[in-house]
Amino acid sequence: MRSSITIFIVCLYTLLSSGKSSSGDDRRWLMSLVDLVELDYEDHCEQRADAGWDELIGVSKGLPTKLERDKAYGIFARQQMADVKSAITSQALSSDDLLKRKVKLLLQPGDTLLEPEQWIRLVTFADTALHKLRFATDYDCGTNVNCTLRELHKSMERQQDESTLLRMKTSWERNLPDLNEYLEQILPLLRNSSRENNYNTVEEYWDSLGEYECAILKAREIWDHVKPLYIKLHKYISLQLKGSEAIGKPLPVHLLRSLNGDDWSNVIESLLPKHHDIYKRIFANLQTKELGGLKAFKEAEKLLKDLEIGEIEPEIFADSYFNGSCPTTIIDWCKPNKVRFVTCQDVSLGNYIEAHEAAAKIKYKITAALHSNNTYVLREASRYSAVYEAIPGFISLLALNPHTLDRAGFYALERFNYNPNHHRLVLQLIFALRDLPKLNYYIAADEWRLRVLMGVIPPSKVVNSWSEFRKNFSMLETSNKDFLGDPYMLLNKPFIGKFMGLILKYQIYQSYAEELISDDYDLVKHVAEKNERLIEPMIKGFSIIWPEMISDLLAKRENSLEYTGLTDYFRLLDEYLDNQLEPSGERNDDDEYVDPPESEPEIEEKTIPEENDIPKVEKPKDTHESIIDNVIDTGYDLNSKSGLETSTVGVLEIKNPVATANQNEDVGPKEASYNTYWWIGVAAALVVVVSLVAIIARKRQNHRKKLDRQRRENSRA
Ligand SMILES: *[C@@H]1O[C@H](CO)[C@@H](O)[C@H](O)[C@H]1NC(C)=O
Ligand SMILES: *[C@@H]1O[C@H](CO)[C@@H](O)[C@H](O)[C@H]1NC(C)=O
Ligand SMILES: *[C@@H]1O[C@H](CO)[C@@H](O)[C@H](O)[C@H]1NC(C)=O
Ligand SMILES: *[C@@H]1O[C@H](CO)[C@@H](O)[C@H](O)[C@H]1NC(C)=O
Ligand SMILES: *[C@@H]1O[C@H](CO)[C@@H](O)[C@H](O)[C@H]1NC(C)=O
Ligand SMILES: *[C@@H]1O[C@H](CO)[C@@H](O)[C@H](O)[C@H]1NC(C)=O
Repeated sequence: MRSSITIFIVCLYTLLSSGKSSSGDDRRWLMSLVDLVELDYEDHCEQRADAGWDELIGVSKGLPTKLERDKAYGIFARQQMADVKSAITSQALSSDDLLKRKVKLLLQPGDTLLEPEQWIRLVTFADTALHKLRFATDYDCGTNVNCTLRELHKSMERQQDESTLLRMKTSWERNLPDLNEYLEQILPLLRNSSRENNYNTVEEYWDSLGEYECAILKAREIWDHVKPLYIKLHKYISLQLKGSEAIGKPLPVHLLRSLNGDDWSNVIESLLPKHHDIYKRIFANLQTKELGGLKAFKEAEKLLKDLEIGEIEPEIFADSYFNGSCPTTIIDWCKPNKVRFVTCQDVSLGNYIEAHEAAAKIKYKITAALHSNNTYVLREASRYSAVYEAIPGFISLLALNPHTLDRAGFYALERFNYNPNHHRLVLQLIFALRDLPKLNYYIAADEWRLRVLMGVIPPSKVVNSWSEFRKNFSMLETSNKDFLGDPYMLLNKPFIGKFMGLILKYQIYQSYAEELISDDYDLVKHVAEKNERLIEPMIKGFSIIWPEMISDLLAKRENSLEYTGLTDYFRLLDEYLDNQLEPSGERNDDDEYVDPPESEPEIEEKTIPEENDIPKVEKPKDTHESIIDNVIDTGYDLNSKSGLETSTVGVLEIKNPVATANQNEDVGPKEASYNTYWWIGVAAALVVVVSLVAIIARKRQNHRKKLDRQRRENSRA
């Protein structure tokens, strides 16, 4: 129906433009054409969403309908491109940036420009492969009974036996599509997509889809700086899992309890530092409160409310499906509030964090859609925005923020404040095990595909080249085809947006954490006060390219990606890994650890720190923790009504980069000097306050402890 109107408009336009027309007319024609094209796109979106949903939840005929819709979509997009192209004149585009933007997005819609036969080949391969993986029931879960994908993920999480893990992974690989077909028929389509979108090389084409100048080059540069931390984490895992002789050698991914090595979270329990009380409690709370599926999303919604980003409409939850597999899949109908998702009910820390990310993405989509001038193409452009990845990623970081954990009843803030550095180390480990392997996987996957396409790898070696590449680049032992379980790989999509999103996520964190200098020390509250920085980009959708949003997002002049946000965030972990890999012998974790009260209300039950310690309050010396150590070591009583003391700790515990700023050279050069002086000032002031407070508090506590002990000894006697 609408297509015929479009054709009518085009004909009318052609007819008219044969005569003389003014630039105003040209522009009006083009605008109305674009409007109609977008309406047609919306129709397609709705139909594809219906079909995609049916396929996801396993309705019979789901797959054939989805295939039909996806095939038609490519043919449609190609046709629309031709229509729009024919209506463009230079006058029509002059001085209307939004129209220019829409036209560009419609003219270069990405892979849908492939010739129909080729497009159909691509979506058929991907849809069929994903469907098979999703609904196969012959996975090996280590028992005698075959199982589903959901059960496979769940069993991998806890399985210890090496050969069973290998069997499980192999059973998954049996369900992957054919590698040769991929290498011969699917991957090379990228050359044709690039050509159809008017780019000479696939790398240029991907840079343009990522909308960042020289994106892949930048990613390589960033990776070089993140790599040392990745290597350390890898070495530490080798040490813990296989002993010192395994350090520096590739790790088989099944030992990481992972199918393709892009997430190492499942081995966390072998890596925890000595004091990991916070992990135990988070884990226990997730289990006892059964925070999987809907409940995890409800927690995520609470965080969104605390951030004053808004709630998620009840019908979205009501109509979503919680009996599927994780990670969450979101389906968007391109209509107000019509977004649904499919997820799993299994309780795990990974699923919990992921639910926060997914909920934030849903909110992102809804916000973009509600904004009146984001018409279809400005919401759903086939572009890979790092901001779309970074903001939800940042929100999922806040899910394990000390104040959020406190509000969720996972871990009391008072308890956190006893040994903030020890707890932060554990939290950093949790995120490092998720994000570092992903960063590596993303860039490895893009690099490898570019190399294959450029012919860098001799044809005879291509079949084994993925595992070779992973061995060298990622220090992982993988199979040759495990990437074929990934929708981005199956659909020839670049990971560059996701890679950059992970980097930007930590830049956002840093930008907010650095501002925390007021009386209000709750990072979530602070973000809520300045949440327009997060909401603005959601509202804008794809109306401008994402790099133009960076500087507002970070409230800084800088508008580029920097690895320092990430490396600063993981500083404690970095040091810890250094110490574990090359123990100096002098340091001892316990020196800094204060046993928290066993059960909060019973003061008598407290385990008592060394009594005769002189409070170690001195000028910041050259260890990173100096300031914080001093605060912790004093062991003052946090249960007392000393608001000043708690909040002092409160600032420091959140501001990871802060404590290190005064001796850290690799802070951005321009801001470093300012920051350095500022922090030295703050540190000096804190040291004075803390010394006084600490001495008094300690004295008071020691006194009370002495009394307690006397009383206990008396009662025993
Ligand atoms: C499990 O799957 C394997 C491989 O497809 C098959 O050979 C076997 O018969 C199945 N076993 C059961 C118990 O269904
Ligand atoms: C790319 O396009 C050319 C020309 O249309 C075609 O001959 C070739 O087979 C295509 N490549 C693939 C992998 O289909
Ligand atoms: C969830 O899905 C499984 C199969 O994947 C099925 O056996 C079970 O009945 C479903 N549960 C609900 C509540 O739909
Ligand atoms: C979107 O619409 C608002 C008014 O509804 C207008 O002020 C604003 O300039 C528009 N944005 C763009 C990018 O055109
Ligand atoms: C392995 O990686 C290094 C850089 O990380 C590179 O210089 C070297 O050529 C690679 N070797 C192979 C065989 O790919
Ligand atoms: C970033 O800033 C530089 C100069 O400060 C400017 O030349 C460049 O165009 C900006 N890039 C974006 C994407 O805004």
